[in-house]
Formats: sequence, C-alpha cells, structure tokens
Amino acid sequence: MSRSKKLITILMPLFVSCFNLLPFSPQYGIVLDAGSSRTTVYVYEWPAEKENDTGVVSQTFKCDVKGPGISSYERNTGALAKPLDECLNKVKERIPVHLHKSTSIYLGATAGMRLLRLQNETAANEVLASIQNYFRAQPFRFRGAHIITGPEEGVYGWITANYLMGNFLEKNLWRTWVHPYRKETTGALDLGGASTQISFIPEDSQESFNNTMQVKLYGYDYSVYTHSFQCYGRDEAEKRLLALLLQKSSTNSTVDNPCYPQNYETALTVKYFSGSLCTQSLRPTNYYPNQSIIFRGTGDPGLCQEMVSLLFNFTTCRNQEDCPFNGIHQPKVKGNFVAFSGFYYTINALNLSGHFSLADFNSSMWFFCSQTWAQLQLMLPKAEEIYARSYCFSANFIYYLLVHGYNFDAGNWPQIHFQKEVGNSSIAWSLGYMLSLTNMIPAEGKLIQLPLKPPLFAGLLIFLTVLALLCLFFLVYLCIVSRNQKVISHVEYVFTPE
Ligand SMILES: *[C@@H]1O[C@H](CO)[C@@H](O)[C@H](O)[C@H]1NC(C)=O
Ligand SMILES: *[C@@H]1O[C@H](CO)[C@@H](O)[C@H](O)[C@H]1NC(C)=O
Ligand SMILES: *[C@@H]1O[C@H](CO)[C@@H](O)[C@H](O)[C@H]1NC(C)=O
Ligand SMILES: *[C@@H]1O[C@H](CO)[C@@H](O)[C@H](O)[C@H]1NC(C)=O
Ligand SMILES: *[C@@H]1O[C@H](CO)[C@@H](O)[C@H](O)[C@H]1NC(C)=O
Ligand SMILES: *[C@@H]1O[C@H](CO)[C@@H](O)[C@H](O)[C@H]1NC(C)=O
Ligand SMILES: *[C@@H]1O[C@H](CO)[C@@H](O)[C@H](O)[C@H]1NC(C)=O
Ligand SMILES: *[C@@H]1O[C@H](CO)[C@@H](O)[C@H](O)[C@H]1NC(C)=O
Ligand SMILES: *[C@@H]1O[C@H](CO)[C@@H](O)[C@H](O)[C@H]1NC(C)=O
Repeated sequence: MSRSKKLITILMPLFVSCFNLLPFSPQYGIVLDAGSSRTTVYVYEWPAEKENDTGVVSQTFKCDVKGPGISSYERNTGALAKPLDECLNKVKERIPVHLHKSTSIYLGATAGMRLLRLQNETAANEVLASIQNYFRAQPFRFRGAHIITGPEEGVYGWITANYLMGNFLEKNLWRTWVHPYRKETTGALDLGGASTQISFIPEDSQESFNNTMQVKLYGYDYSVYTHSFQCYGRDEAEKRLLALLLQKSSTNSTVDNPCYPQNYETALTVKYFSGSLCTQSLRPTNYYPNQSIIFRGTGDPGLCQEMVSLLFNFTTCRNQEDCPFNGIHQPKVKGNFVAFSGFYYTINALNLSGHFSLADFNSSMWFFCSQTWAQLQLMLPKAEEIYARSYCFSANFIYYLLVHGYNFDAGNWPQIHFQKEVGNSSIAWSLGYMLSLTNMIPAEGKLIQLPLKPPLFAGLLIFLTVLALLCLFFLVYLCIVSRNQKVISHVEYVFTPE
C-alpha cells in the first residue's frame, strides 16, 4: 500500500504537467438573440487561458424569454423588463457571483427590429434605449444593444456552424492547432421569423459578388457569399400568404387557406397580417385594421404549394443566370449545408431530421398537410396552436425556397443537414457574434503547416509516443529502484495496487 502511494506521489505531478489536468478557471459570455418572434439568452463558457483556441467555447445554458420579440414592445417599452428578469435571474445562478462583473453581455437584434427601424426609427430607438437602461442596472458588463445587418447575421451563423463542427482548425496529436487536412467548410441556412439567410463558399471564390464577405480567421481568408432575404422569414412569409389569400378572395369574411389543416378555423384581425411592412403592398384598399377575417383550413398541399410560389418574384430574374429570385445574384450552391432554427423545427415536426431525400421530404409534407386538425393535435400534443397550424405552410415554404429559390435539386438535397445543435451548443448567429466581437477567433494564427499527409504523420507520432512512454517507464523504474533498493523483486506489485 505505502509503496503504491509513493508511486502515485512521484507520478502525479508528472501527469498533471504532461496532460494539463489542472482545473481551469472558466470564463463566461452572454448573448441575447433578440429575434422577431422571441428573445433567447445564451450563456457560453470557456477556459480563460485558452480563449483563442478553437472549439473550446461551448454553450452551458439557454433560456427563452417569455412573450414576443422586442420589436413588439414599441408602444410599451416599460413591459420589457419583467420577462427578461426571469431569464437573467437563472443566468445569475449559473455564473459564479465573483465573475458577474467581468462577464460581458451582448444584445443583437435581427430582422424584427430591422423592419421596425424601417417603419418607425424613433420607435426602434426607444426600444433599444429602454433595453440599454435595463442592462445598465444589471451586474454584468453590458457591451451594447445593436441591430445587426442581414449579411452580418448570415456570416455569424456560418462562423458558428463551422466553429462548432471544427472546420476552421483542429488539434493534432502535438496539441497544436492546424488547418484541417482537406476539410471543407459547410454552408449555413438560417430561417428566422422575419428573414432567412444563406451563406456558403462558392465554387469560384474569385468571382466577385456584391454579397461576398471577406472573413479572415486564424490566418486563413474565406470569401463567404451571404444574402439575407427580408420578409422571407417564417412568420412574415405567412403574413404575406394570408394577405394574398384575402386579396384573391371574393368575400372578405371567410377565406379558405389551403395551408391550414382541414377543420381548422381561426379569426384574425386584418392588422395581424397587414400591419407589417412586409405586407404593405398587399393591403386592402379599404383597410380596417380591427376587422376580423375568418381563415378556414382546407389542407390541400398542391394548392398550398401554388400559393406559396406567389411569394417569390421570378420576373426580375428572367433570362438571367445565377439569379434565384427577387433579382438577387447568387452563385450555384456547393458542398454541404447545415439548416438550423426554423428549418430544423419545421422538419422535426414532420418527423424528419438529419439528411434525407427530396422525395422523402415531399411525401412527408404531403402526408402532414393532408391531416385534419384533430389528427394533427394528436400527432403534435406539445405544440402550441399557432405553430401546429402553420407547419404545413412552413414545410411548403421551405420546399419552395430551397428547390425553386436556391436551386437545390434531388441530387444535392441530401447534402443539406437539418440540425439544431452540435454537442449541446445551438447553431445560431449568437456564438459567432460573440467570438467575433471578443476577438476570440484572431485574424492571424500561429499555424504549423504539416509537411506529411495525416495518416503518415499520425503513424510517426504514435511511434514516437510509444518510444517516449517506454523511456518514461524506464526512468520511473530506475527511480523506484534507486529509492527502494530492497523491493527490487516486488516492483511489479506496485503496478497493481489493491
Ligand atoms: C487572444 O487573441 C487576441 C488577439 O490576437 C489577443 O489580444 C489576446 O490577448 C489573446 N488572448 C489570449 C488569452 O491568448
Ligand atoms: C413612431 O413611434 C413613436 C414612438 O413610439 C410614436 O410616437 C410615433 O407616433 C410613431 N410614428 C408613426 C408614424 O407611427
Ligand atoms: C452590385 O450592386 C450595384 C449597386 O447596387 C449594382 O449596380 C451592380 O450591378 C451589382 N453588381 C452585381 C455583380 O450584382
Ligand atoms: C368587406 O365587405 C363589406 C360588405 O361587403 C364592405 O362594406 C367592407 O368595405 C369590406 N371590407 C374590406 C376590407 O374590403
Ligand atoms: C381597434 O381596437 C382597439 C382596441 O381593441 C382600439 O383602441 C382602436 O381604436 C381600434 N382601431 C380602430 C381603427 O377602430
Ligand atoms: C416582381 O418585381 C418587379 C420589379 O420589382 C415588379 O414590377 C413586379 O410587379 C413584381 N411581380 C410580382 C408578382 O410581385
Ligand atoms: C410530391 O408528392 C405528391 C404526393 O405523393 C405527388 O403528387 C407530387 O408529384 C410530388 N411532387 C414532386 C415534386 O415530386
Ligand atoms: C411522428 O412519430 C411519432 C412517434 O412515432 C408519431 O406518434 C407521430 O404521429 C409522428 N408524426 C408525424 C407527423 O408523422
Ligand atoms: C450535453 O448535456 C448533457 C446533460 O447536461 C450531458 O450529459 C452531456 O454530456 C452533454 N454533451 C456534451 C457533448 O457536452
């Protein structure tokens, strides 16, 4: 017993210094993703002394703030604080009190606030000002509340996805960071409530597009094509559909909606869908905001797809190549894509996830859209009504956007992975935003170029490691032998302690 203890006391410091097992001091960062339909609080953690390493930042906590997105508080900014408090109190419990002061907190608002700012800049500024007041009274280090642009949202989502998947750098056996051998980056598809983003590295990165962003990470240059389609988020697209259905309807009291399930009926005020900037051009000539319209579901996937197609304007692209819709120039999609947020939640409601064929998606969608409201409620017992009634629409919208908008086909459709997180970290623009603002992904990196191909290199490393371990054991052996001359014959005993 005492002999094995002695061995441990000799070996412990060795192991600790060799394998870096010393407990690290964690550091935290908080990002609020203020979307159009809700605000989500993310808490990230990383070992303080390794903040510039890749893949060390992970999400440790996430909280959905109750109530609508911040842009809905335009006439009632005083009510913002209470739901935020609930989440922030939980955050305060997660982060040690002595670290509160040094923990940065960021708020980034997306398309909901971009639209409000276009509609009424004063109102948008008032919302941001009241958020600023709220956070100044919090113990954390407030780093501002900003409305981020569409391209920024796209690129931060792309950075998050590739950071979490380890596509920028990976650790080799020497525990230094290297550019992954032959690893490609993945494209990012994000579907929010008010806008949708596509970001990827095109085949010909030399070709210059208006929508290309130059990103330099760890010493490598990436030309990321990115575009954010305002009013093509899930909620705004559905409002446009409802406005269009009303416009095409001969009556103005009851309107059939082929995207709502059979036997579903709901009364919505005209203001609910026509009050948005995205539906301004579809407003009825006699606009009575408070007038109530009954929408009656007919659960007709074919007709739903036809109506969804009217949300896209292809006329501006006529005879133009590389132009999916609305006159936006886009290179051909290339490589793998990860589709998260609204894309994932919709696909998940159809019982799909990961990657699957386009035909499977089509048949799941048709099956789902043909269900009656009563059947749907049984299939989705946990879903709130406003989500459950709209999955058929969002599935059709996703189908149309990806196939006819971005030009995915049956061949490259399986390269889209519908996924919401990597490990326990959500794929969302918020992580990329924090990494960029804190400079945790330095533009310059100290990189080691590998002269050998990885398999050969790994083989060499294993050989050297084994050699080193043999030497180590021999040294330990000598050490023990010299300390305990008498127990030479029992040395093997210490390796099997009781
Ligand atoms: C991380 O990188 C930034 C920019 O290169 C540098 O200012 C900072 O000191 C680095 N932090 C650590 C812990 O190495
Ligand atoms: C814009 O918002 C402000 C503050 O909420 C309000 O006083 C003003 O009437 C709004 N303007 C318009 C044109 O709606
Ligand atoms: C880039 O944008 C400018 C101004 O919006 C436009 O005139 C030009 O044609 C665009 N170029 C490309 C390649 O789309
Ligand atoms: C709806 O119909 C009624 C009666 O037909 C008419 O008075 C009213 O102006 C219509 N409202 C809209 C918004 O078209
Ligand atoms: C609509 O209803 C709200 C309250 O329900 C009322 O304050 C407002 O004046 C109404 N607007 C119109 C145009 O009737
Ligand atoms: C498509 O866009 C063009 C140019 O902006 C416009 O003239 C046309 O009316 C639009 N078509 C539809 C169906 O919205
Ligand atoms: C999707 O599935 C439906 C029902 O099975 C079928 O009628 C339709 O042709 C399919 N659409 C495509 C584009 O394959
Ligand atoms: C998804 O799978 C569950 C469990 O197998 C089932 O109860 C539900 O009806 C399915 N939903 C759809 C939309 O197929
Ligand atoms: C994710 O979280 C669960 C529960 O907190 C934990 O058991 C699991 O190890 C975590 N996974 C990763 C990859 O961190």
